[in-house]
Amino acid sequence: MNIRPRRNRKSSSIRAMVEETKIGTEHLIYPIFLKDGKGLKEEVSSLPNNYRWSIDMLIPEIEECMELGIYTYDIFPAVDESLKDKVASYSYADDNFYLNAIRTLKDKFPEIVLMSDVAMDPYSSDGHDGLVQDGKILNDETLPILNKMALAQAQAGIDIIGPSDMMDGRVESIRETLDINGYTDVSIMSYTAKYASAFYGPFRDALNSAPKSGDKKTYQMNPANKKEALLEAELDFLEGADMLMVKPALCYLDIIHVLKENFNIPITAYNVSGECAMIYAAAEKGWLNYDLAVAEILLSIRRAGADGILTYFAKDFAKFKKK
Ligand code: PBG
Repeated sequence: MNIRPRRNRKSSSIRAMVEETKIGTEHLIYPIFLKDGKGLKEEVSSLPNNYRWSIDMLIPEIEECMELGIYTYDIFPAVDESLKDKVASYSYADDNFYLNAIRTLKDKFPEIVLMSDVAMDPYSSDGHDGLVQDGKILNDETLPILNKMALAQAQAGIDIIGPSDMMDGRVESIRETLDINGYTDVSIMSYTAKYASAFYGPFRDALNSAPKSGDKKTYQMNPANKKEALLEAELDFLEGADMLMVKPALCYLDIIHVLKENFNIPITAYNVSGECAMIYAAAEKGWLNYDLAVAEILLSIRRAGADGILTYFAKDFAKFKKK
């Protein structure tokens, strides 16, 4: 035997030297839920360890995460039912607590990167990402609403806009709106290959944003399709996206890989709520080692080709890394 791969694994120093994939806190984006009010830290029942925070409670939490090396956050608003309507008008209302929180956070922590979703669902009385008429999700009529939402977020100081709605043409429409209003520096991380997945449940619990009727299959992608992800990626790239996201991550590592191979802009992946909930549940039962499983999952997403990873594991992983 003249070739023995085990020689390159014989000590931790050698293993570290030949390690092909690195994962650190700089690769992580931490999704956090925000709720209007004071003194709130409500645990999401289907996503243990994750909370709906009020802004006053979130500030010390962000300080703690920054000390652990986490600098990028994606904040999602849990909007009171009474503020939801057909056209998601609260998403760009002047007194919107979420937009105020963006201002507060960017003012207090200028060095953090703040990302935000653009889609109607958290603000929509129909619980859909687009405008609903006679049971249909209208595409072109949704775009002006998304533009208003994106512009309001840019005005509040957001760094990265994340269109998560899957309407056709929304990246171009949002890019144009941002640019003509002078927000040429605001980035777009497009939810490019976003699949109609069973793994979004805990997120919808957190925001109470599940569709009131029907499902999202006329706009989110069919989990069976890979070539279609290349088409979506090409469109988002040409429409001006700065980064392309694949979502969910774990059942879609092949999609992350194929986008990384074919596009020269950063690829990100959203390790979604249901994927994290599975691990929390198994760890709670003592069926697997939480820290090791999380580290392996995040590494695998990086190995598949993701530059950045949105994950609810961000803080726990950062603590584990520090140990
Ligand atoms: C909203 C949105 C969803 C997620 C991110 N943005 C839910 C959905 O599309 O129904 C899911 C994230 C997660 O499950 O962690 N459009």
